[in-house]
Amino acid sequence: MNLKDLYINFFVSKGHKQIPSSPVVPENDPSVLFNTAGMQPLIPYLMGQSHPYGKRLCDYQKCIRTNDIDEVGDTYHHTFFEMLGNWSLGDYFKKEAITWSYEFITEHLHVPAEKLAVTVFAGNEFIPFDEESYNVWKSLGIKEERIAKLADNFWIAGDSGPCGGDSEMFYWRSDEKVPEIFDPNDERWVEFWNDVFMQYNKHEDGSVLELPHKNVDTGMGVERTVSILEGVNDNYESSIWKDVIELISNIASLPYKGNERSMRIIADHLRTAVFISADPAGIKPSNTDQGYILRRLIRRAIRHAKSLGIDIASDWDTQIAKLILSKYNKYYQELKDNENVVLEVLTNEKAKFNRTLEKGLKEFNKVTENVTNIDGTTAFHLFDTYGFPLELTVELAEERGLTVDTEGYKEKFKAHQELSRAGSQEKFKGGLAGNSEIETKYHTATHLLNAALKLVIGPDTHQRGSNITVERMRFDFNCDHKLTDEEKDKAENLVNGWINEGLEVQVQEMSKEEALNSGAECMFIEKYPDMVTVYTIGDNVSKELCGGPHVKNTSELGHFKIVKEEASSSGVRRIKAVLE
Ligand code: ALA
Repeated sequence: MNLKDLYINFFVSKGHKQIPSSPVVPENDPSVLFNTAGMQPLIPYLMGQSHPYGKRLCDYQKCIRTNDIDEVGDTYHHTFFEMLGNWSLGDYFKKEAITWSYEFITEHLHVPAEKLAVTVFAGNEFIPFDEESYNVWKSLGIKEERIAKLADNFWIAGDSGPCGGDSEMFYWRSDEKVPEIFDPNDERWVEFWNDVFMQYNKHEDGSVLELPHKNVDTGMGVERTVSILEGVNDNYESSIWKDVIELISNIASLPYKGNERSMRIIADHLRTAVFISADPAGIKPSNTDQGYILRRLIRRAIRHAKSLGIDIASDWDTQIAKLILSKYNKYYQELKDNENVVLEVLTNEKAKFNRTLEKGLKEFNKVTENVTNIDGTTAFHLFDTYGFPLELTVELAEERGLTVDTEGYKEKFKAHQELSRAGSQEKFKGGLAGNSEIETKYHTATHLLNAALKLVIGPDTHQRGSNITVERMRFDFNCDHKLTDEEKDKAENLVNGWINEGLEVQVQEMSKEEALNSGAECMFIEKYPDMVTVYTIGDNVSKELCGGPHVKNTSELGHFKIVKEEASSSGVRRIKAVLE
């Protein structure tokens, strides 16, 4: 059986509910571009909010980490990966978490115990040594020499939010004899699973306080674990990648050996591009935020394909993307739904890059005619106007014996990013939990707008997407025409009317069936568990399945204003609105 299925089955047998993988683009958390860990979508629940699925959860989560995009090309770095996770939200703690980790590894994955080693939190001036975890590992039979006490075994996503000491599991990935004593600095010991005991909340001012509950957050890397289980030392030789690499090698008519780096980059970047462009957030290649990452990944894959002599105009990218889609669509419905979108994104971006590449090369030759160093402004101009990612400029410069002021470029780029994220300070104030007061208000306003549009356009109008930042709300809905000024005014007036009435917002837990029978609105019913939370505003002004959070009374919202109405995609309109 597949590792993902084995994992989920195991934790379900221990009383966990499987939750669906969240989109790669966080739905209500503007502080990060992508989900980087399984816990990210669960932050509000780790902070104490009750989760509609209960206190024991498990899933596989799509994650994207672009920090080490430049490292991709070696045997184990990836920009996209899947993380298996199990959580206790104020339920079990260290003993069960560690015991189940060990049981799963040794009895279900059949990893020999003598090839394992673990770390535990050594403690610091504020938080004591994690003796409990140490003793649990010992009681399970892990020898003292294989348990390292480390002061940096403390896990937090970013700078603030839920956090705690952790215990990491390592496997001896080498043909050489397993040493008796565990040396965490020896790279042959590969970390593959992390149990974090989240009992603290680090605030932005640096203070650390206890959370209302003691939680467990674990993360097991699918790519790494699969290569461990399959006994390969290069992740790209595992079943996750083998056929993708073979396809690339066939298309290029070149062997993998000797061309590893470019083939790995193509495989990795196209897989990530597939997942970003299939995401419900509808990301398209652009010059900012997620769109820029997508653009960079596709363009870098194209450059490496070129360097392997692949005919770029051929359907090489479509072939590879289709193989990747077929490998994952059993697990991720959006890959099935959005196959055409993905292929279109790749084809369009390829065409665009090809067009600008020629012009860009001309410009490159012009601006470098009499220089030995390309300054930051010029490098940024090549990016901004001709779509040259920095590494392309650097590569071309190297070929001509020129240098590039990469620091200067980065400064320019940063200034550009900040400019394009109007009020980025405000945006980031929302913090990781995405649960600031204003965002909570926007959640409730979203429900009111949804209800208003049903009255203005018709009862078959439904939400197609939503995104909230501290600055505004965005709401997508099905509608076959551009809203008239009159329709917009009506919707605005309805929402403001409900705000002025001071309607109560009530939350109830009920079975999915009961919720549906009561006429509650929801977007993806198949994604909800058996028990759901339903938010009702006033006397049935709005009733929606939702995880919250919401205000208690609509009078808290202030004044609602539609600032923009535009097309989102075919048959879908988008409204941007603010609360003033
Ligand atoms: N959140 C923890 C990690 O990503 C489990 O390592």
